[in-house]
Amino acid sequence: MTSKTDQHRPARLGLWAAWLLLRPFENRRFRVRIVLTLVLLLAERLAVLGTPYLFSRMVARLSEPTQLLLMPVWLIIGYGVLIVLRSAFSGLEELSYQPVSQNIQRLIAQAGLRHLHALSLRFHLERQTGALTRALERGAEGVDTLLRLSLFNIGPAVLDTVLTVIVVLHLFGLLYAVIILVAMLAYIAVAQWFVRRRVHARRARNEASSQAQHLLVDSLLNFETVRHFGNESHEHDRYEEARLRQERASIRMTRIANLSSVTQNLMIAAATVTIMLLAAHDIVHHRIGVPQFVLIGTYLRGLYQAIMALNMVYAGWRNARVDLEHLLELFAVTSDVKDPGQPGFLPLTLEEGGPASITFDHVHFGYQPSRKILDDISLSVPAGGKLAIVGTTGSGKSTIGRLLLRAYDADQGQVMLDGIDLKDLTQTAVRQAIGIVPQETMLFNDTIAYNIEYGRLGASMDKIEEAARAAQMHEFVASLPEGYQTLVGERGMKLSGGEKQRIAIARVILKDPRVLLLDEATSALDTRTEQGILEALRKAARARTTISIAHRLSTIQDADHILVLEKGCVVEQGDHASLLAQNARYAAMWRIQSALPSGLPQSDHPPA
Ligand SMILES: Nc1ncnc2c1ncn2[C@@H]1O[C@H](COP(=O)(O)OP(=O)(O)OP(=O)(O)O)[C@@H](O)[C@H]1O
Ligand SMILES: [Mg+2]
Repeated sequence: MTSKTDQHRPARLGLWAAWLLLRPFENRRFRVRIVLTLVLLLAERLAVLGTPYLFSRMVARLSEPTQLLLMPVWLIIGYGVLIVLRSAFSGLEELSYQPVSQNIQRLIAQAGLRHLHALSLRFHLERQTGALTRALERGAEGVDTLLRLSLFNIGPAVLDTVLTVIVVLHLFGLLYAVIILVAMLAYIAVAQWFVRRRVHARRARNEASSQAQHLLVDSLLNFETVRHFGNESHEHDRYEEARLRQERASIRMTRIANLSSVTQNLMIAAATVTIMLLAAHDIVHHRIGVPQFVLIGTYLRGLYQAIMALNMVYAGWRNARVDLEHLLELFAVTSDVKDPGQPGFLPLTLEEGGPASITFDHVHFGYQPSRKILDDISLSVPAGGKLAIVGTTGSGKSTIGRLLLRAYDADQGQVMLDGIDLKDLTQTAVRQAIGIVPQETMLFNDTIAYNIEYGRLGASMDKIEEAARAAQMHEFVASLPEGYQTLVGERGMKLSGGEKQRIAIARVILKDPRVLLLDEATSALDTRTEQGILEALRKAARARTTISIAHRLSTIQDADHILVLEKGCVVEQGDHASLLAQNARYAAMWRIQSALPSGLPQSDHPPA
């Protein structure tokens, strides 16, 4: 049995996972650029350290009276050059790293999309589109921040701290170094405490902002429903509430950040005062001189700057990891429908062309373990055969189609294509062999031509028109001012139900698959158009295996075999004539439907 849910694994590794995900060093161009950036960074540090050194040299030269006649021109010019170089290096660093940064963000976005497309229907039915897009965006930025911090900030800050402590220990002795060390540890402890609070607040902010984005997208997607029921203010209120949560969390985040910086500055001031008092005391007792007093002040400032930088790096690191969490969680989700991939076990391949046979062998299935949807379904359609499935609404007809397309795996029993268990084939091979006209057509917000072409990307305009003709659609499209270039609106909202359905049919005719799965493919059409399309489909289906799911029995009476489904069980089967002869459920449905005067729109859902 397959597991019922996609598996979640908590995201533990922040940077490491991101690193593995990207493998930036496997790309030669990235490698060169990262190394170049590091070299520039080193050059910048040298320039930064060099400026005060040159300055002190100038001061030394100018304070020697004998030298005063000769101006230290070169020193002054060198000082200016260093200042220019400093900013030039920092600009070059950005130039050198920027392509890596952009590339990484693109890679993350691509990897995210590819991963999402590989996840099962079960995952996609539970996802929240808005929240998902937000997580992808934030995650890509988070990875970039992490890499930037580790490249640009960590090294210099650690170096500065260690060097300063060593110098102080050397010049002033143990007591000073101990005080500095204790102050540093206390500072780090407090900073850590604050960072944890901030992480907490940031997580809350991220959740609130994802939720707000989800509500926004959902409410816009359902814009018509909102309007039909006059629920605009309800939508606004819900959004307002989510935005308020986001706002509060953001404010809390800022408050913690400020409190943390005030506290830390207080600690720095306290430590500085202590050291200064100690130094003053030492001056009074002639242990050190005034120049050393000045020197220790300068070192302390440098040290605190380095510690503050480290603290910032740490906080930034934790923040970026929080931003990355959701994305890493997403990447940790694995699809519950898997291609055969064990070592030494290659997926079997289907033959090309020609109709394929279909077999369901004692299939049991439920979306959740607690509710069985298909109960011991067996069916078999020979290559080129025509099977029809009828039955009450919710009896599991579309579910059979979903199992055939391997959107889900059967809990028990086998589904086979050409005698091969679907689990031994790649999902791509299965889906290439089967063309479906789904019960509800989803269209891309693009042109009619693009939506038809989607069945076979790269098809010529002639082929597209031919498919549209077969789907009884060409005349309608030709009558539009923009013809095939007409935009269909989001999810095809600018088209009528029947028009959308005919695009779906044209699309599948263009795909020219070995198996046709028609799930209420003509339910939205009037009887005359339906007859025309059925004729076209019959022609198209001549060299194909076909499974038609229908409520309107008139559309399937020529099938070779008809299954009557009820609550996930096959309750009757046979061809049209033999089912009528059985004079049970099918016959009853047929009588009700044919009692309706022809030409009137017939009920799509006859009473069982
Ligand atoms: N993703 C899902 N998770 C849980 N239950 C589901 C899911 N999809 C469908 N179901 C349930 O499975 C049952 C069978 O659904 P299915 O879509 O196969 O019915 P159907 O026979 O095609 O009905 P209709 O004639 O209305 O299209 C329904 O009761 C439905 O509520
Ligand atoms: Mg259905």
